[in-house]
Amino acid sequence: MSETMPRFEVAHLARTELFTPDPDGTLWFFTKLLGMYETKRDGQSVYLRAYEDPYQWSIKITEARSAGLGHAALRTSSPEALERRAKALKDTNVELSWSEDEFGYGKTLHFQSPDGHNLSLLWEAEKYQAPPELQSKILSRPSKKPLQGLPVKRIDHINLMASDVTSVKDSFERHLGFRTTERVVDGEVEIGAWMSSNILGHEVACMRDILGERGRLHHVAMYYGIPQHNIDAAEMFREYDIQIETGPDKHGITQGSFLYVFEPGGNRIELFGDTGVLSLEPDWETRTWQMSDIDTGLAIGGAKLPFETYFTYGTPSKLTLADHVAQFAGGPPTADAGSAENPEGADRNATSMVAG
Ligand SMILES: [Fe+2]
Ligand SMILES: [Fe+2]
Repeated sequence: MSETMPRFEVAHLARTELFTPDPDGTLWFFTKLLGMYETKRDGQSVYLRAYEDPYQWSIKITEARSAGLGHAALRTSSPEALERRAKALKDTNVELSWSEDEFGYGKTLHFQSPDGHNLSLLWEAEKYQAPPELQSKILSRPSKKPLQGLPVKRIDHINLMASDVTSVKDSFERHLGFRTTERVVDGEVEIGAWMSSNILGHEVACMRDILGERGRLHHVAMYYGIPQHNIDAAEMFREYDIQIETGPDKHGITQGSFLYVFEPGGNRIELFGDTGVLSLEPDWETRTWQMSDIDTGLAIGGAKLPFETYFTYGTPSKLTLADHVAQFAGGPPTADAGSAENPEGADRNATSMVAG
């Protein structure tokens, strides 16, 4: 981030659209298990919000052939900040378009990350007004905590897979005023970056897609705020046959308490048990993790992040989750890594892994 870039141009992650080939299953997961409220249905989409999400929706589920990220939208800190960010993007020839037709939100700027993720910026957002039966006695809470499942409070962050982490990171820093709180390098190559526009450790992370694909989603994270809830949620997911990938445990990177599962449509969802470390100081310096310290970075408690999913599976996926696991269950090839016959082998080397 340049010296002259104003901080806090982007306030936070407002919403994410998820594609799902199993809309009923995905809806069941978010409403019955994670306790999210449905606020609207329109065509093939259902709009959902958690009980402390401030706007009309934070997750939009849209039926599609493949799982994946429809788009992610960040709310700027002012209408002027939105105009400044649009100019910064335009000045470097990023293709832009505007629309104003999304439920609960106003004028929205659309663009793509250097890796092809659909991203949006917006200022105008309609605050959720609960009907009398859903009004909370706690004044800072936009709606009552629901009596359903183990309710998440709000959307927390997204993690993007990218063929080139550095270009995505540079774009968030240069165009949107994010700072990189932490990163992982493998030699000279950046293979993971955690980026923040406020005091959280990250609202957006980016990890290297070791299959070399572009524009995929690694996960969307929903916030509990209490690490014990991740253990309670693991019990719930186990009882209701939701596939748990890894956790509960705590990352060294971000210090976030994590639990990763796959919703029935195939997207990876992280349950975030606390805020993780907050970067309060204005001159926070990026922490750089080396591969020699990566075990601490991934999981302080020693949880294994599986190669056959965590480091290789994103959405959209060419294979079903089960087929993907079968194909990658043997772990990373190392004997022929990087050989001329198998140039992809180097990308599948275990040393290129990182977590978020
Ligand atoms: Fe994580
Ligand atoms: Fe995450």
